[in-house]
Amino acid sequence: MQYSKMKNNKKQNKYHKIIKDLEKYQSQDFTFSSGRILGSMCTQPHPIAKKAYMKFLETNLGDPYLFPGSKKIEAKYLSFISKLLNAPKNATGVIGSGGTESNISAIWLAKNLSGKKEVIIPKNAHFSFQKIASLMDIKLIPIPLTENYYIDVLKTKKKIGNNTAAIVGIAGSTELGTIDPISDLSDLCIDEKVYLHVDAAFGGYIIPFLRKLGYDVFDFDFKLPAVSSITIDAHKMGRSAIPLGTLFVRNKKWLDEISVETPYISSKKQAGILATRSCAPVAAAYAVAEYLGIEGYTKMVKNCMNIARYTKEKIEEIGLELLIKPTMNVLAVKIKNPLKVEKILTGYGWKVNKMERLGAIRIVVMPHVTKKVIDEFIPVFKKVCIQTGEKIS
Ligand SMILES: Cc1ncc(COP(=O)(O)O)c(C=O)c1O
Repeated sequence: MQYSKMKNNKKQNKYHKIIKDLEKYQSQDFTFSSGRILGSMCTQPHPIAKKAYMKFLETNLGDPYLFPGSKKIEAKYLSFISKLLNAPKNATGVIGSGGTESNISAIWLAKNLSGKKEVIIPKNAHFSFQKIASLMDIKLIPIPLTENYYIDVLKTKKKIGNNTAAIVGIAGSTELGTIDPISDLSDLCIDEKVYLHVDAAFGGYIIPFLRKLGYDVFDFDFKLPAVSSITIDAHKMGRSAIPLGTLFVRNKKWLDEISVETPYISSKKQAGILATRSCAPVAAAYAVAEYLGIEGYTKMVKNCMNIARYTKEKIEEIGLELLIKPTMNVLAVKIKNPLKVEKILTGYGWKVNKMERLGAIRIVVMPHVTKKVIDEFIPVFKKVCIQTGEKIS
């Protein structure tokens, strides 16, 4: 055999071995497409998101003059989010990797605008705020929740002080999918002249559609005058590909507070945390937004809510109880030993979340969770509950 042919064969063998190895590792992962991930706020990307993502692998939005077409896609996606959140004309968005990054940028902005270092959060705020406290020398002031599991506004008012940089409200809490009374927080923040950040990482792609469907849910967006910024993630209920989150801010001038000069690349300034970042997830999010539109997302949310209701009924039929009436497609099932139940369910190939603090497990009815999936899950769940000594019928 010729030497060059031998070398080529060797290279090909190596290539195939690497791909096979990757597939071996991948086969150990749980998949959204199996329907068996019941405890994640992410989902299988929409087919058009996958197609769009693959087309933009070599782009870099951190250097927008090299990728003007990609930059236009970003602008179009931000325009979609702007309408979704009822943002005013002067508002703009910063695209990032997800809810954590957007929350970090929001508090970075509030801290620089105010020159203050205390942030009031509901007790059930996402753990990204713990990271924020550590990263930025911020003191968190956690506020107890009401019996409905949302922030106590009167207790919030009492904690506002000379050093308050921001108040955070959640629109779609991680554990229970609850919405804080953002309208009351907005009134409070107007009176006290405090920055109000809304973490709608999960709920941002749900609440507008729940309203269209006639659900009675709290307002959360820029229609409320004190809302200064909103976190919203396309890689959760936006059905896009990971990683894609956006921080939307009421006034684009504010971004100067979290911008730096970029002397050796083609843009003058850059806002936010990331520098090099791909347009692939942005193209994916934009493609889904264009393809589904408001009507498609409303249908998707309606379907998730219907299956969530069906799941609730099936859970109650086996004698278990929910911790609270669900606001969204997030169910918390009261369980004495959530850790044990979660572990055994994992052994059977099902993934739910343990919430030991609340004595519950969490089921998130994302778009990949169908009625058929629930019908397969419930008998296994019942068996595991019997095994772990839960009181069921
Ligand atoms: C309300 C809320 N905020 C922020 C985050 C963090 O988002 P990410 O994991 O995309 O950083 C989450 C994640 O579940 C969330 O539920």
